[in-house]
Amino acid sequence: ADTKVYRASTTAPVNIAVVKYWGKRDPKLNLPTNSSLSVTLSQADLRTLTTASCSSSYTDGDSLTLNGEASDVSGARTQACFRELRSRRAALEAVDTSLPKLSAMPVKLVSENNFPTAAGLASSAAGFAALVKAIALLYELPDSPSELSLVARQGSGSACRSLFGGYVAWRMGDKDDGSDSKAELIAPAEHWPEMRALILVASAAKKGVSSTSGMQQTVATSGLFQQRISKVVPANMAAMEEAVKGRDFAKFAEVTMRESNSFHATCADTYPPIFYMNDISKAAIRAVEAINAKAGKTIAAYTFDAGPNCVVYYLEENASTILGTFYPVLAEVTGWKEGTAGIKSAVEIDG
Ligand code: PMV
Repeated sequence: ADTKVYRASTTAPVNIAVVKYWGKRDPKLNLPTNSSLSVTLSQADLRTLTTASCSSSYTDGDSLTLNGEASDVSGARTQACFRELRSRRAALEAVDTSLPKLSAMPVKLVSENNFPTAAGLASSAAGFAALVKAIALLYELPDSPSELSLVARQGSGSACRSLFGGYVAWRMGDKDDGSDSKAELIAPAEHWPEMRALILVASAAKKGVSSTSGMQQTVATSGLFQQRISKVVPANMAAMEEAVKGRDFAKFAEVTMRESNSFHATCADTYPPIFYMNDISKAAIRAVEAINAKAGKTIAAYTFDAGPNCVVYYLEENASTILGTFYPVLAEVTGWKEGTAGIKSAVEIDG
């Protein structure tokens, strides 16, 4: 019998949305209520490294070790990824019967993040993207990154965008089976090599309201949300694609900030309201406004996900202004430098 261990390793980067995914029209398939667009950060700074192996000699079933600790794989999202990938492998094995029957073997995953998992830095996006890429590599699947994004999406919505570097759109699609709800490349990182991101860790604590329940509550109770998905996001998607393609930073920045504000406004509009930003987050917004006012033009943009941490986008030519201004302003905010909170070094945009 074949007791060989088959193995493959890969990495996937973190992405930070500039047009936000917020709302599921199908929670089971992770189909969104709107399209979204993100910037992929450098893997040197933020990434998940995953090794996938399989063998008929593994007797404990599928398993995942994350940062050295056993992690649950029985969740519906993880199971959906395993099922999809196995069925794609099984299809190959059915055509070429000489292939080893990897689809029938238990899978062992070992994953490491090079950043704190609990810091609220979109670790699930890199995590599920790396899981899907590693198993696809192990199974020698011929699927394109867009095809694999259909699988990663079922793990975590935002994960579908981490299959690409650079500027990535997730088209919401309109099919009920989700077969057209996938990621596509808008522009590679080299298209805009001057783009930088600064990550401000306002709190390393795990977020209060998970994205899944926050979205569910927003869809169910916010009136503002209807306006957002029907008018605001479609206009922002179009403007953002134009800004990226034309390397128009001022436009990119304005849409990024308006988008973050719009998303957090719908959260505050739910009943009861959800607040992801704290006083340190608000100080970061004021600091970006001060930087832009002093420059007389928009050279920095803030954005916040489902937590208090801030990502500031800027161009390399303004690095000293951004980094030099941020520290003194935020150093005065109580709590900013305590514990693990602080300024994370600037990271590059990944290819
Ligand atoms: O992929 P999820 O379910 O963790 O949701 C991500 C939601 C936001 O980070 C707030 C927005 C986004 O588009 O990444």
